[in-house]
Amino acid sequence: MNICVIGTGYVGLVTGACFADFGVNVTCVDKDGEKIKKLNHGEIPIYEPGLKEIVDKNLREKRLFFTTDINESIRKSLVIFIAVGTPPRGDGRADLSYIEDVSRAIAENLNGYKVIVTKSTVPVGTGKLIEKIISEERRQGHLFDVASNPEFLREGSAVEDFMRPDRVVIGARNEQAIAILRDLYTPLYLIETPFVVTGLETSELIKYASNAFLALKISFINEIANVCEKAGADVHVVAKAMGLDRRIGPKFLHPGPGYGGSCLPKDTAALLNIAKGVNYDFKLMDAVMAVNLNQRKLMLVKIKDAVGKLKGKTIGVLGLTFKPNTDDVRESPAIDIINGLIKEGAIVRAYDPAGMKNAASLIADKAIYCKDSYEAAEGSDCLVIATEWNQFRILDMERVKSLLKRPVVVDLRNVYEPDAMRKMGFEYKSVGR
Ligand code: UGA
Repeated sequence: MNICVIGTGYVGLVTGACFADFGVNVTCVDKDGEKIKKLNHGEIPIYEPGLKEIVDKNLREKRLFFTTDINESIRKSLVIFIAVGTPPRGDGRADLSYIEDVSRAIAENLNGYKVIVTKSTVPVGTGKLIEKIISEERRQGHLFDVASNPEFLREGSAVEDFMRPDRVVIGARNEQAIAILRDLYTPLYLIETPFVVTGLETSELIKYASNAFLALKISFINEIANVCEKAGADVHVVAKAMGLDRRIGPKFLHPGPGYGGSCLPKDTAALLNIAKGVNYDFKLMDAVMAVNLNQRKLMLVKIKDAVGKLKGKTIGVLGLTFKPNTDDVRESPAIDIINGLIKEGAIVRAYDPAGMKNAASLIADKAIYCKDSYEAAEGSDCLVIATEWNQFRILDMERVKSLLKRPVVVDLRNVYEPDAMRKMGFEYKSVGR
C-alpha cells in the first residue's frame, strides 16, 4: 500500500517512519525544503530515541521517502495522513489554516478513492471541516472518506509507543475506510492491541479527554503533595497506595513542578475552549490548569525558602526540558522557574543534556550555561533539580557538596532520598515529602 504523511513534525515523522517499518510505502511531505533535504540524508531534526535507526533502515530499504511535492504524493497514495500543526491562536482556539490548505491540495489532486486521516490532535469538528472542503473543491467526483486516528505518542518514547500502543483509536463514518486503516495496522492487530472503532467526533474527543485526564492526575497529585508537606505525610507512599487500587492506577501520580510540553498545556486549554463552544462550563479543567500554573510558583517559593532572599544568590539548575529524553523545552516548568529566579535577582547556572540550545531563546539573557552538572553546582548557593534526567539521579553527591557554596539541594522531581541526603549533610527539600 502507498500512503503519505503530510507534515514532518513530531507526530508526522514518527508515524511515517513506523508505518514504513510495518512494510508500507510511505512518502513524508513537508513544505520546508531544507528539512526534507536533511531527512533524505538521515538527519533527524528532533531528539527521539530509536527514530534515526528506523528512518535509516527504511530509507535504505526504499520504503520511506521524503519530498516537498505534495501534489504527486497525494495522487499516488490511498491513505493520506494529515499531521500538520494546529497552533493556538490569540483567542485560545486552534488555528486550522494548515489543515485547510492541505484539504484543498487533496481536493485538487483527488484522482480516485482515498482515505484522509487526521493524526495530530485536532479540535472536534475538524474531520467534518475537511469533508466539507474536499466535497466542495474536488474537481472530479471521486469518492473519499475522512477518518480520525489520534496519536498517543509520548516524546522520548514515541517509537515504542507507536509500535506497542495501549490502544488504536479509529473514528470514521464508513466501513471501507475502517477496513483500510485496520489493514495498515495489521502488525498491531497481530500483537492483540485493542482497537476502538467509533465515530469521527468521538475519536477526536478521545484524544483531548485522555490528555486532559493525565493532566488532571498530575495536578491532583501535586495538590496532594502540597497537603502532605503541611500535614507531615509522604506523597510517594500516598501515591503508591492509591495506585494499587486498579480503578486509579499507578501512572501519572508523580509529583513535581507541574506538567509541561507541547501537548498537555495546549490540549487542556483547547478542551476548555471546546466546552465553551458548546456552552459548557468545564470547571474541573479550569482548576487543573490553574493548579498547574500555581505549582510552578510554589517551586520558586520552595527555592526561596531554602536560600533566603534570591537577590545576589547563585542557583545551579539541572534540567531545562519539560521531561527527560527530549530536547523539547516548550512550556517547560524549568524555564518559568529560571526566569522567575533571574527576575528576583538570582544568578542562574544551568545545565541540560539536550535542551540548552532550545532553551537559550526562552531564558533571560543573564543565565550561564554550563558544560555539566558539576559546573552548574560550582559556587552555587543551592542546586535545583528541575528535570529527572537519568544522569541527575547518579550524581557524585560528595563532589556536589564540595563544589556548592552551601550544601542546599532543592529536588523538584524527588529523585533523591531525603534521609540519605540529610545524613550526607545536605539541607534537602523535595516535593510532598
Ligand atoms: C503526552 C501524553 O502522555 C501522550 O499520551 C500524548 O500522545 C502526547 O501528550 C500528545 O498529545 O502528543 P508528552 O507531552 O510527550 O505526552 O509527555 P508526558 O510523558 O505525558 O509528560 C507531560 C508532562 O507531565 C511532563 O512535563 C512530565 O514531567 C509531567 N508529569 C508526567 C508529571 O509531572 N508527573 C507524572 O506523573 C507524569
